Amino acid sequence: MVNVEAYLQEKAELIEKNLADYLPPQNKFPTVIHESMHYSVFAGGKRLRPILMLAAGELFDGDLDEMMPYACAVELIHTYSLVHDDLPALDNDDLRRGKATNHKVFGEANAILTGDGLLNRAYEIMLQQGLEGNLDREVYLRSAKEISDAIGTNGMIGGQVVDLDMEGKEIDENTLLYIHNNKTGKLLSASIKAGAILALAKKDDIERLSRFSQYVGLGFQIVDDILDVIGEEEKIGKKIGQDEDIDKATFPRVFGLQNSKKEANIMLEKALEELSYYGDKANILKELTKFLINRDY
Ligand code: IPE
Ligand code: IPE
Ligand code: MG
Ligand code: MG
Ligand code: MG
Repeated sequence: MVNVEAYLQEKAELIEKNLADYLPPQNKFPTVIHESMHYSVFAGGKRLRPILMLAAGELFDGDLDEMMPYACAVELIHTYSLVHDDLPALDNDDLRRGKATNHKVFGEANAILTGDGLLNRAYEIMLQQGLEGNLDREVYLRSAKEISDAIGTNGMIGGQVVDLDMEGKEIDENTLLYIHNNKTGKLLSASIKAGAILALAKKDDIERLSRFSQYVGLGFQIVDDILDVIGEEEKIGKKIGQDEDIDKATFPRVFGLQNSKKEANIMLEKALEELSYYGDKANILKELTKFLINRDY
């Protein structure tokens, strides 16, 4: 049996150690932007995307040193997305990862620039590893492309645009699925796929992990929606009931809480089914998947 909480903590610590090396020092001029980047990156956070990347890579005996820069890059990208997501023009939140949101501390202009800085740093890290690493250049390019496709207007940005547009409106099931798969699913999914690519997994395996990751990605955002209704602020580090306040298009709003829970469990089952092919070798990924869907934070 894998103790998933202990595993998560151990991996999060490892990732945080590396993240610290990848960010410019806080006392580097202009200090405000570097302090702000540190503030949001080290505010907490479960580090699930990098952990999933490393676990996916581990399944194919990937080299940790080759994956770590990409793992840190996706966490920086994710953190950028949160800093921008919380801005008054988007979700207008004032609590994130248990602390005041970035713009509450550093101001809106700096929060925008902090997001830009984090995103840019992520690409720098991926490119640097592509130049210095020991794998074929194509492997780095394919991994970086997977990630960049996932966060553009055909991915996370597109999902965010429709998410904002749909506030307060009637929404059909396909549009809701578009939002969830794009604003959240695709980066999560790309993290997993990039792990498999960097571990030199075969085409069939990458395709299997791709299917697995899509179920996980959608399930993850359904649970995020559910926790906004029934979660505890102390645990999730975000204010509860924010989605209802701004009339967001969420799974609970459209399908009700019970059906949303059912749907999340269907995603869990489908995801685990894909992993069953790997037997015990996928135990860690299986436990992580169960945690992602059953979590209360
Ligand atoms: C929250 O993601 C935002 C979504 C995309 C649903 P996480 O729940 O992974 O947030 P952190 O990184 O742990 O703060
Ligand atoms: C977040 O969705 C998606 C991105 C940040 C891209 P939410 O708006 O539901 O995330 P939380 O609930 O604020 O973390
Ligand atoms: Mg949002
Ligand atoms: Mg939000
Ligand atoms: Mg949410």
